[in-house]
Amino acid sequence: SEPLKVALLGCGVVGTQVARILLEHRDELAARVGAPLELAGIAVRDVTVPRDAVIPTQLLTTDAESLVDDVDIVIEVMGGIEPARTLILRGIAAGASVITANKALLAQDGPAIFEAADAAGVDVAFEAAVAGAIPIIRPIRDSLAGDKINRVLGIVNGTTNYVLDQMTKHGLGFEQAVKDAQALGYAEADPTADVEGHDAAAKAAILASLAFHTRVSLDQVACEGITKVTADDVAWAKRSGHVIKLLAICEQNDEGVGVRVHPALVPDTHPLATVSDAFNAVFVEAANAGPLMFYGQGAGGAPTASAVMGDVVSSARNRVAGARGAGESNYANLPVVDFGTA
Ligand code: NDP
Ligand code: HSE
Repeated sequence: SEPLKVALLGCGVVGTQVARILLEHRDELAARVGAPLELAGIAVRDVTVPRDAVIPTQLLTTDAESLVDDVDIVIEVMGGIEPARTLILRGIAAGASVITANKALLAQDGPAIFEAADAAGVDVAFEAAVAGAIPIIRPIRDSLAGDKINRVLGIVNGTTNYVLDQMTKHGLGFEQAVKDAQALGYAEADPTADVEGHDAAAKAAILASLAFHTRVSLDQVACEGITKVTADDVAWAKRSGHVIKLLAICEQNDEGVGVRVHPALVPDTHPLATVSDAFNAVFVEAANAGPLMFYGQGAGGAPTASAVMGDVVSSARNRVAGARGAGESNYANLPVVDFGTA
């Protein structure tokens, strides 16, 4: 088939790794998709910033608007609400499939984006938006679509897990551990989103929306981050046979839906206690499947790019087949449910 043109919005921690995979694995990807994926341009804020050697500098541009008007696939890994939102909507209006890792945007404006995608008949895919490399969106949305999910619980923020782990194992101070997480590419552009729990809350809103077939917005998630966790708390937890973890908990019972993020004491014999560095782990409890556990790298360039590229390949295959992926937008048109007190 004809080459599929790809616009990459962002060339930071994640975007650099997406570009590397697109370029280094060009032939295998073409074989898997049934058409070559042609990187048409990479939108950045500043083309003069030194980049990884793998990035073809002639592809860099600050004109993201023109780039998204003339491609088959838009990969949004720039982050933030604007201009990401406008560029995604512009790409959709121009008929492009969209892949995004932007949980903050989806938790805030997901329904508007999915409605636009429905109207245009294009895919919007976001596996990378929750728990980095771990396949969790598709299992919840597709594999478990015939079951009834009662609970989704786990560690969905790599930065805070890294920080708590460093404080627990190496006695590192909070500030230093956050700086290290930033240097390793785990943290958001503003790490406040991580340490205050907002990033985990956005992910919890997305997971709960998909798991419970409803629409959970960010402001419906009760959220407490790890900024009040002290070295003394960590040491006390350790002495009492526990570790402190930032948990996201999404539940549905007879009283309704409840979604919350907060630090919790986890017994050090529990599988969640062994989740170290920037790894994530998500437990899903479904009526018929029973308990399921998903585990892997929750942040970082290459792991996140892996999830992005899975969506790129499946959206590209859909375009080659002249089809659309099933269920990408399945929480766009659902009513917001009353929140209970679960
Ligand atoms: P970075 O800050 O490393 O990279 C952002 C990139 O976007 C940079 O190349 C920047 O350009 C570009 N950019 C930002 N604003 C604009 C703008 N207004 N116009 C044009 N280009 C712009 O972010 P990450 O790669 O870490 O994260 C990207 C997205 O992926 C975010 O939504 C994040 O939440 C998500 N994500 C990140 C993970 C991670 O582990 N880092 C994991 C999972 C999801 P320039 O280089 O010129 O500054
Ligand atoms: N800042 C996020 C985290 C990136 O630390 O989990 C992955 O979504």
